Amino acid sequence: MAILRGVMRIPTSVPKRTDAVDIGCARSPNTRLDERLRGRCAEQMTGPTEAQWLAVDEYLSALLVGHDEALEQAVTDQRDAGMPDIEVAPLNGKFLHLLARIAGARRVLEIGTLGGYSTIWLARAVGEEGSVVTIEAEPAHARVARGSIDRAGVGERVEIRVGRGEDVLPTLSGGEPFDLVFIDADKQSNTIYLDWAARLGRPGTVVVVDNVGRGGAVADPDTDRSDVRGTQAGLAMLAADPRFDATALQTLDAKGWDGIAVALLTDVV
Ligand code: DHB
Ligand code: MG
Repeated sequence: MAILRGVMRIPTSVPKRTDAVDIGCARSPNTRLDERLRGRCAEQMTGPTEAQWLAVDEYLSALLVGHDEALEQAVTDQRDAGMPDIEVAPLNGKFLHLLARIAGARRVLEIGTLGGYSTIWLARAVGEEGSVVTIEAEPAHARVARGSIDRAGVGERVEIRVGRGEDVLPTLSGGEPFDLVFIDADKQSNTIYLDWAARLGRPGTVVVVDNVGRGGAVADPDTDRSDVRGTQAGLAMLAADPRFDATALQTLDAKGWDGIAVALLTDVV
């Protein structure tokens, strides 16, 4: 056991909050699937409560991301500047970072910088010789992001282009293709952004679209929300356009119930 502990590096500071949350049958080490299917834990089958998913998010974030001064300060500065609290959750930021490393990405394009939180995660992934081009429509947001990105020590790898995506994207044509594109801006323009991701990428480029769940609204065919309609149109494009091969994952974390789509550019591009 002592050896196992040493090998597994069991963390000593697991958040206490988990203990305070009663997650009943789902928590019992003796719970078996067949017992749940027989209804002994039927009350748990109605889905997780907010307290439960927040406890899991805190637990996983503390374990797998942990304290990160530069990222936390970026969020603080963003909030202090009165910007919206809509950066990706820490586990999602690390997911983007790992995806970029898995893909061996050296050139990353981000559409929607906000305060630079996800930009820092991506910039850390591309290495010293890599680069991130990130597009931000709001000059005040870009200034906050610049400060946080520089403070994180990755400023030399990051070029912030201030302007609307549909104006800036055409100016990026003709360069080396991007290896990964992260789309996280106004949802109404998602199909435009996906089209540019395909044009500016190459076969094998990874394309990630944020916020494809939208609290469940994405599954409402009668929605009158323009952001949700834009998200749906983007997903329909990922499904139908032969340039993409895509899937999507739901997420449940401090940002609520949402999701991300992940696509690969095919040989058609
Ligand atoms: C919103 C936008 C985002 O990119 C996000 O991650 C969450 C919310 C929004 O516009 O509401
Ligand atoms: Mg987002």
